[in-house]
Amino acid sequence: MSRMNIDDAHSRMRALEHELHKHNHAYYVLAKPVISDYDFDMLLKELTELEEQFPELVSQNSPTKRVGGDITDKFEKVKHRFPMLSLSNSYSFEEIAEWAERAQKGLGTEDLEYILELKYDGVAISLTYEQGSLTRAVTRGDGEIGEDVTANVRTINSIPLNIHGDFPYTFEIRGEIFLPLKEFHRLNEQRAAEGEELYANPRNTAAGTLKNKDSAFVAKRGLDCFLYGVYTDENQFEHHYDSLMAASKWGFKTPGAEDRYVEIARGISDIQNFIEYWDKKRSELPFEIDGIVLKINNINRQQELGVTAKSPRWAIAYKFKAESVSTRLNAVTYQVGRTGAITPVAELEPVFLAGTTVKRASLHNADQIEKLDLRLGDSVYVEKGGEIIPKITGVDLSTRSSGTEPIAYITECPDCHTPLERKEGDAKHFCPNEFGCPT
Ligand code: IVH
Repeated sequence: MSRMNIDDAHSRMRALEHELHKHNHAYYVLAKPVISDYDFDMLLKELTELEEQFPELVSQNSPTKRVGGDITDKFEKVKHRFPMLSLSNSYSFEEIAEWAERAQKGLGTEDLEYILELKYDGVAISLTYEQGSLTRAVTRGDGEIGEDVTANVRTINSIPLNIHGDFPYTFEIRGEIFLPLKEFHRLNEQRAAEGEELYANPRNTAAGTLKNKDSAFVAKRGLDCFLYGVYTDENQFEHHYDSLMAASKWGFKTPGAEDRYVEIARGISDIQNFIEYWDKKRSELPFEIDGIVLKINNINRQQELGVTAKSPRWAIAYKFKAESVSTRLNAVTYQVGRTGAITPVAELEPVFLAGTTVKRASLHNADQIEKLDLRLGDSVYVEKGGEIIPKITGVDLSTRSSGTEPIAYITECPDCHTPLERKEGDAKHFCPNEFGCPT
């Protein structure tokens, strides 16, 4: 390619950035692409080549940053402008109703609107935009001070690097970075094929990924982000719901009413209806949620209710109970990890739980088996909480047959028959065969 003059390069690069941001938004936020992947890649290639030729013209928020490349030695500590509070929560619907009543009493009106949102199970993030460009992304940390993970966050396709429309000069927007289930399963399949230990759940995987030092690695992980709160110096909006709609117009991926990810409730029966709907439907979502968040819609009323030391009084989370079933323990088998660590596995009578058929559950280590006092043939309670691999939470002693014996833990490696070792303070047994098992 012949070299362009610098003015032409400058205007072509800005035009390409604009085009690519627009297509990125159409694809990752709206899920409605307008050009083919091929055409997108061609535009991206053209911009990449111009950036190589004219490094002095590269934008901080160029769409080419999506692929990562920056390596971070140490995540800088940043004090939050507005503290990142947590939510008080409850597993009981009665307590949620009491919270709504308290809010009504406190505000002296029964005529209150609540915004109901999903409680995304990921990692909280605070994004700062200045003049429409992403300038900083900070983790929650302890709520007062978080860590600067901007280079990593720039690789998340659904987070806009530049926004459009009538946005405040500077503002923060907060949300939850999560790993979609499809990406989580893809990663675990890959790890299984490579003989690596599986990731326990999408939330921990997302948290670990976000703190990786290599942004190019993060770029390949398929993280996603829902935004749920706009923070500005002056109160810009009358209602929380308006701020969500505005953020969506600026280019953010905010929960939408179309798929009932967000809803306006006018009383306790609307709230109950939404909770019951998602308690049933949550296993069909392409990402994990661990509850429902309720927020008072009117921002002045939010301020009137205020906050306690840790959490706002104008919001609360209803948490779903982990689903649980009982089934028969048929056998215990043992897996040898790459490092020689032994993991006992419960082989179960197949049972349907939270959208999938469960045949096995991790037992972690010998102590776990002892603590549960497991016997073969026991009727056991299996639970799927945040973890993808279900766990055994207890035994139904009323159905235990007489004459059963506690399970004797293996003493030899099931693969190479080397006697197992367990070091002082270690939870797991290990196969010390340094030449590796034959498998
Ligand atoms: S609002 C002041 N809305 O839940 C409260 N939080 O303990 C601001 N979370 O890790 C939070 N989904 O990141 C809010 N729709 C939602 C949420 C949500 C998930 C997370 C949040 C934080 C935790 C709060």
